Order: sequence, then structure tokens, then C-alpha cells
Amino acid sequence: MNYSIRRMTLEDLSAVHEIDVLAFSLPWPERSFRFELLENPASRSWVVEADGRIAAMLVLWFIIDEAHIATIATHPDFRRQGLGEQILLHALRAAAADGARRAFLEVRAGNQAAQSLYKKYGFVVDGIRPKYYRDNNEDAFLMSLDGLDQLPVAGPGDQQAEKK
Ligand SMILES: CC(C)(COP(=O)(O)OP(=O)(O)OC[C@H]1O[C@@H](n2cnc3c(N)ncnc32)[C@H](O)[C@@H]1OP(=O)(O)O)[C@@H](O)C(=O)NCCC(=O)NCCS
Repeated sequence: MNYSIRRMTLEDLSAVHEIDVLAFSLPWPERSFRFELLENPASRSWVVEADGRIAAMLVLWFIIDEAHIATIATHPDFRRQGLGEQILLHALRAAAADGARRAFLEVRAGNQAAQSLYKKYGFVVDGIRPKYYRDNNEDAFLMSLDGLDQLPVAGPGDQQAEKK
């Protein structure tokens, strides 16, 4: 599959929102992604473009020396093909290049797919927020990764990714 990773633009918003609605029971309103692009100086967002479509998206908040993965999702048509992994690595590497030393995120306690992805890159569970998700009162696991400067240099199939 041909794909590339690039920064999200306003033109991507409807496709990104569509992925969000398909991926989450509590999707962000489209205006939240617009806010991230236009008004949040701490925000960095990327998309994966594959076969001419927006296949995955990620929003990261960069706070001092920490990278908070705010959201990440792959369109259902493109799952299990390594794109979630590639956009995650890409964002973490970009944050590390900008000085981030640690990454963290919240994930639903029952979201095995996402937890497997994060564990594959060394994230560990280091806290629980009880009943964090308001739709079903599900707990959130807090996961973090130290040593962002020691990420693998490039993952398989990563040759086409943008440099930063
Ligand atoms: C989590 C998500 C982003 C993974 O995206 P993806 O592009 O399908 O993932 P990849 O193909 O890159 O998979 C990378 C790794 O993630 C894990 N993984 C992904 N999907 C999985 C699944 N259904 N079951 C178990 N592990 C899974 C595996 O460890 C996999 O590595 P492997 O292929 O060597 O086994 C995707 O399932 C998704 O969009 N889910 C809905 C949104 C969501 O839950 N986001 C996370 C919020 S915290």
C-alpha cells in the first residue's frame, strides 16, 4: 500500500471527523479539530494518506517536555495494516525532536487493540481514572512512555513518511 504521513490541514477536516465518528462513541465535534489546527499552539496533528484517502489521524499536545496523545484513530477500511503504528511513531519522533522526553495518554480499560499498540512501543499503565468515560462510566488507564529519545529510528514501511 502506498501511504504518506503529513501534517493535518483544514482540507482534511471532514475526512478526519468521519474517522473520529467511526472510531469513537464520544467523537469530537468537527470544530474541535478546527480549534486544534487554528487556535491551540500546543497542538500538532498529522494524517496518513493512503490510496488517495485519509486513512488515519492523530492529534498530540506538546506541553513543556511531555507529549500527550490526545486522539488517534485509523479508518476501519485501513485497520491492521500498520498505519496506526506508523502515525504514532511519527508523532512521537517529531515530539522527541522538539524536546519531549515523555509521552502519555488515556485509554479505555476495555480497549485491547489500542493498549496492544501502545505496549508494543513500551508504554506502561501507571494509573487509573475511575469512571472517566461518561457514556458508559468505563475506567481510563493512564499510560506513559519515558525515554522518547530512544524510539526505534524507523519502522517497517516507514520510508515514505515525511522527515519530521
Ligand atoms: C487502535 C487503532 C488506532 C490501531 O490502528 P491500526 O492502524 O489498526 O493498528 P496497526 O495495524 O498499526 O497495529 C499496530 C499494533 O496495534 C495492535 N493492534 C491493532 N489492532 C489490534 C486489534 N484489533 N487487536 C489486538 N491488537 C491490535 C497490535 O499490537 C498491532 O501490532 P501487530 O500488527 O504487530 O500485532 C485502531 O484500532 C482504531 O482506530 N481504533 C479505534 C480508535 C481508538 O481506540 N483509538 C485509541 C484511543 S486511546
